Amino acid sequence: PEPENFFEAVGGEPTFRKIVARFYAEVAEDEVLRPLYPEPDLGPAEERLRLFLMQYWGGPHTYSERRGHPRLRMRHAPFKIGPIERDAWLRAMRVAVDEANLPEPLDKQLWSYLEMAAQTLINSWT
Ligand code: HEM
Repeated sequence: PEPENFFEAVGGEPTFRKIVARFYAEVAEDEVLRPLYPEPDLGPAEERLRLFLMQYWGGPHTYSERRGHPRLRMRHAPFKIGPIERDAWLRAMRVAVDEANLPEPLDKQLWSYLEMAAQTLINSWT
């Protein structure tokens, strides 16, 4: 059967699991990003991002069952996010998305969303 939506088209949960795990492996080694994460264990943050992205792309709504409305601008307000942090986030995510080897149109669709979302989360210009 044809995939119903983007979530299914990219391969469902295993694909998101792989991308977000790879992303957090980059975060763990990144001198700009790592200090922003308040918890010593990145595992819970990894799970929140994975569940959010799965829900956004048409997968299960587990994110909102656990966390409520995403309100990403509000949830990022405690962290100073300027262009440097945005670029570091996108660099780590680019590594992760590259490794998933998605077909080009799906890669492009995912990437435009992530670039746009990262831009909207900038909350500091100093
Ligand atoms: C949470 C940083 C962009 C989605 C967080 C946290 C930090 C952070 C430090 C807290 C870790 C946690 O406890 O979960 C950043 C930085 C970004 C960025 C520096 C650069 C622009 C994005 C983007 C998305 C996103 C583009 C979505 C496409 C999330 C989600 C959470 C989160 C879903 C967990 C929210 C919750 O339920 O508490 N981010 N983030 N972030 N971020 Fe980002």
